[in-house]
This record gives sequence, structure tokens and C-alpha cells, in this order.
Amino acid sequence: MSVGPVLDRIDSNLSDSLERLKEFLRIPSISTDPAYKSECDRAADWLVADLRSMGVQAEKRPTPGHPMVVGTIDGPGPHLLFYGHYDVQPVDPLDLWDNDPFDPQIEDTPKGKVIRGRGTSDDKGQLMTFVEACRAWIAEHGSLPCKVTFFFEGEEESGSPSLVPFLEENAEELKADIALICDTGLFDSRVPAITTMLRGMLQEEITITGPTRDLHSGMYGGAAMNPIRVLSRIIALLHDDQGRVTIPGFYEGVPDIPADVMQQWEALEFDHKAFLGDVGLADLAGEAGRSALEMIWSRPTCEVNGIGGGYQGEGFKTVLPSKASAKISFRLVGQQDPHAIRDSLRTMIADLTPKDCKVSFKGHGASKASVMSIDNPAFEQARVALSEEWPDEAAFIGSGGSIPVAGYFQTLLGTESMLIGYGKDDDQIHSPNEKYDIESFHKGTRSWARILQALTKE
Ligand code: BES
Ligand code: MN
Ligand code: MN
Repeated sequence: MSVGPVLDRIDSNLSDSLERLKEFLRIPSISTDPAYKSECDRAADWLVADLRSMGVQAEKRPTPGHPMVVGTIDGPGPHLLFYGHYDVQPVDPLDLWDNDPFDPQIEDTPKGKVIRGRGTSDDKGQLMTFVEACRAWIAEHGSLPCKVTFFFEGEEESGSPSLVPFLEENAEELKADIALICDTGLFDSRVPAITTMLRGMLQEEITITGPTRDLHSGMYGGAAMNPIRVLSRIIALLHDDQGRVTIPGFYEGVPDIPADVMQQWEALEFDHKAFLGDVGLADLAGEAGRSALEMIWSRPTCEVNGIGGGYQGEGFKTVLPSKASAKISFRLVGQQDPHAIRDSLRTMIADLTPKDCKVSFKGHGASKASVMSIDNPAFEQARVALSEEWPDEAAFIGSGGSIPVAGYFQTLLGTESMLIGYGKDDDQIHSPNEKYDIESFHKGTRSWARILQALTKE
């Protein structure tokens, strides 16, 4: 089966493919907010119908949370497991969007055409690049060159609570020769990438409670403990003045990056001034003495994602609040153990909390980092296929983001993942005005067709 006519068909069907993507994007499948539960269900139904329309046997599988979608189509060759997520992030702050986040539009920008809306890049647009490649392949040749299992999750953006039990229960069906995951980015608009390292994630919510109620800060201020002061001191003590995290044992399991990998990264000539310049910054803010790519790809972090307490409305209210809270997350690398770090963090914070206050913790996600083993010949085959589609050679890169499913495929299915995606740093994922380049969508679809060919040709 040759790929040439499949690529031509992808080109001539681009506008139909974009119409289908728009339909999918109009479903507000925000997984973290219970108000959108039926919309998540609708997005799963949409995918089942779309897969069936191309001859894939597909069904919605219930979980205690949002449903999974599983589809299979038989074929010779290796068995590929394709993963994407159909859920999206919330849209707030809504007033910063130029258009309705769930009424996607195609726009001309100085850097080219884009499709704008929630989920365009993370992850509906990316997920559909693979589906569209398969659709074109089947339309052209009547079948796929290999067996494919489609596996779509609806809880990725809310910590994947149903994923592990689902993989355990369905391991036999989902096990494959290799998993393909489309939820990462290009290195830049010329250089496609296979992501071989993902950081892990630990999330913890901390609440400090002081007085039993909010107090007048004139009547009590000075005499009574202010939980915001306690919390801010704790947060300030989480890093030293070299930008290192101070939690005891935090760096256990953090590996040194081998010299050859460091050299490859240096050869990428990453322009951190431009990277930060795009978001109105200039200076690296991580550990002293590390390069930008090290900070993003191979070093662990501790970041405060949200903080609350006291009066936050218009004007001013002189109050000592009863409570203060923060959401803190950690990106983990190498063999760092999220559970050991959670324990150590809780002990450290409890020790820093004055006797007169109470501290309580609520744990959220915890996943280890994963490193793909690139010995599998699929990596080199896909690298060559990507290099044929894009202007420059494909690179093996790291990623600062977390995709816990890649680690679970390894440990629960024994299946290695190959992470290939076409997102760009300026896609504004998780932010207002998210977009996906039409070039990413189009060349991404063509790339998958080439990769299917490369993975299956004798
Ligand atoms: N697609 C992203 C992960 C990502 C972001 C990969 C940027 C490559 C570049 C994914 O949807 C995501 O947002 N993951 C969360 C995971 C968390 C909720 C466990 C993340 O990284 O914050
Ligand atoms: Mn994603
Ligand atoms: Mn995301």
C-alpha cells in the first residue's frame, strides 16, 4: 500500500477535515467541572460515531468518571495503540477570549492560518490528525496497513482518576507493539519532534487555619496569628536563593543528563530570550547555572499554581482571615518518588506551622516521570518519516509537561510509547485564545500517514 495517494487525499479533503474538527470542538467537554458531565459524554459519543463512520468498531466504555472510547480496526503488521484525550481545560477567564471558546473560527494571522478555540491544540485538534490520517488511508486502500486500537480518555485534564483501573481491567485488549500519543509539540515550526522524556507530577493543596473567624485587623492585628503570613513564609521557604527546592530528600533520584544528550540539546540552539520574550519576560528564573532546556526538560520544579485567602473583592477590607490556602505542584524527573516527596513536604510544612494554627492537606495527582526507551526500531522509522514531511530533520526532545498515561502504558501494559505531536509554544494551551496552526493540523495528518507507512513497510 503506497502513501502517495493517501497524502493527496489528505490535501484535497482538508476543508472537510476542518469542518469535522469544528463540530468536535463545539462540544464543551470540560472534564474538571461537574456541570459539563453530559458534554463529556456527548464528546465521547461524537468520537464513537466518527470512528464508526470510517469502519472502525468503536464503543463508549463507562467508568466511575467520564467514559473512555475504545475502537479497533484489524489489519496485518504491528498492533498500534493510539491515545488522545477528548476533554479540555476550563475557559476562565472568559473575558480574555476574543471569541466564544466553543465556536471555533479559522483566522488569518501574521504567522499563518490558525483555528482558534478551546481544545484546538490540547488535544482535540491533535487527536484528529491521527483519525484523519486513518480515514484517508482507509478511503484510499479500503483498510489500514496495520492493526490499530484507538483509545480516547475524557479525564486527562482532571488527573485521570479512572485511567489506572481501566488499564488494569482492559490490559489484554489494549496491549500493543507500540503506543502512539499525540499530545505534545514540535521543537519549532521547521523541526518536528519525538518527545522521549516527560516530567512527572505531584499536586498538593495546603490550607492553614488560624482564628476561628475573620477578625478586624485593628482590633486583633499584631496580637493574633495571620494565616496568610504563615502560608507565605512557608511558600518562601520552599526554594533557596539558588532556586533549589529545599524539601528534604527532594533531589533523590534526579539523574545527571548524559554528556551526549546535553550535546544534542545544545545543538538545538534553543533561543531562551525569544521563548521568554514572547511572554513579556527576559530572565531565566530556575536553578542557578542551568540552561533553559535543562530547566524545562530535565530538572524538577516546585510552583505555586494558585493562592487564596482574605478579601479579594473590589476596594479594601481590613481583615485578618481565618484561613489561607495554596495549590502547589511539582514537576518530577528521573526516579523521584512522588509519594515520598509528598510525605516529606507535609512533614516540612507541619514543622513550619506555628502551634496556634492548624494545617490540612489535600493530595491531588501523583505520577512519576517517564523516559522512553528509543531502542525500538519504530523510533528511527518515525523519525525518518517525520523528516520527510517537515523542512528540517526531526529531533528527539524532552518535554516539560506531564502525560501520566505514557508511564502507565509501560508499567501496566508493557507497551512503550512514542510521543509525536504538532503543537507550538505559542498555542496558548490552558489559556485564553488557544489556537492550533492549520499547518500543524495539515502536516500533522500527513505525518501520521507517513508514519503508518514507515512502521508497517517490510
Ligand atoms: N498536553 C498536555 C501536556 C503537555 C503540555 C505536553 C505541553 C507537552 C507540552 C496535557 O494535556 C497536560 O496539560 N497535562 C497536565 C497533566 C496534569 C493534569 C497531571 C500538565 O502537564 O499539567
Ligand atoms: Mn493534552
Ligand atoms: Mn492539557
